[in-house]
Amino acid sequence: MKIAIVGTSGAVGQEFLRVLAERDFPIEELVLFGSARSAGSTYEFCDKQYTVKELKHNDDFKGIDIAFVSAGGSVSVEFAETITKHGTIMIDNSSAFRMDKDVPLVVPEVNGEDAKVRPKGIIANPNCSTIQMVVAMNVIEKISHIKRAHVATYQAASGAGAAGMEELINQFKQIAYNTDITVEKFAYQLAYNLIPQIDVFTDNGYTKEELKMYNETRKIMHSDIEVSATCIRVPVLRSHAEAIWVETERPVSPQEAKDAFAKAEGVVLQDNPAEKEYPMPLFVAGNDPVYVGRIREDIANPNGLTFWVVADQIKKGAALNAVQIAEYLIKEKAI
Ligand SMILES: NC(=O)c1ccc[n+]([C@@H]2O[C@H](COP(=O)([O-])OP(=O)(O)OC[C@H]3O[C@@H](n4cnc5c(N)ncnc54)[C@H](OP(=O)(O)O)[C@@H]3O)[C@@H](O)[C@H]2O)c1
Repeated sequence: MKIAIVGTSGAVGQEFLRVLAERDFPIEELVLFGSARSAGSTYEFCDKQYTVKELKHNDDFKGIDIAFVSAGGSVSVEFAETITKHGTIMIDNSSAFRMDKDVPLVVPEVNGEDAKVRPKGIIANPNCSTIQMVVAMNVIEKISHIKRAHVATYQAASGAGAAGMEELINQFKQIAYNTDITVEKFAYQLAYNLIPQIDVFTDNGYTKEELKMYNETRKIMHSDIEVSATCIRVPVLRSHAEAIWVETERPVSPQEAKDAFAKAEGVVLQDNPAEKEYPMPLFVAGNDPVYVGRIREDIANPNGLTFWVVADQIKKGAALNAVQIAEYLIKEKAI
């Protein structure tokens, strides 16, 4: 495969380099892109040095099979035509095309086959908090249809990119040295705090991030499910956590759910409260799967089940999911 990464210097771009190497992805040629800021800088991939090229409107993507794009929504919109015009498949990490009816929105464990129909040559990678939620909820959906879900998210600083992670680290240092605290990337100091806002507010009082979880889940799962989310930024460096309450058509027992999670693709069941075993972001960071624990009946709803889901949102929530889409296309000979 001839592969391009757009947004190489970023949190997701760097993860692409690690994931592609880790999975021994079949790469014949690799081209790295960035803005003028990182053009000319070099990155190592499989013992070879690669220089970042500036992304421009030209024919640089001619001959590239797949472009993994993670440079923000406006870059994706501006460069989609340039990237796809010679037949390159663009796997886009931004939210720009996710709800476009001509762009499949894909989580391979849930709806891999949707990636085969892509009229615009673009496949969208869902929002990071949606990806881990649907991987887990799809397991329950196969037992009994989920009518609605409530979710509270606990989202890591790195969800706001490399600069978000750096800001949190600096704030803890600044507190330790009793110096002024820098607040740029987040609305408030995040160290020792929680911020109940991710993305901007909309007219109904939900943030855009919360509405992404509603809309994207329905598209990926091909479902009429209703999702009510509250998304919180927490002072964790990496890996999002979610408390999820689902209401199914018929009651699903915790044991039935545990048996299904234990067998599910891409899921690790970590649920042994007696031994204090449950997933936590600190220990999940850097791992591939979606971890599920704290599975129990919802005592406030006879058809309810509640559980706790943790996944590395830069990995499964972004780079890994995109690479798995590419692997699926190769396996299905759908490139
Ligand atoms: N972080 C996450 O957990 C996560 C999860 C899922 C999806 N995403 C999505 O992935 C995308 C990237 O996120 P990130 O967290 O990696 O952000 P980031 O760390 O801020 O990195 C942004 C990247 O975009 C590049 N870029 C910006 N403007 C560009 C331009 N005009 N042309 C070419 N490259 C340009 C930057 O390159 P330069 O350094 O050269 O400017 C940098 O490599 C966003 O759409 C984000 O919503 C992020």
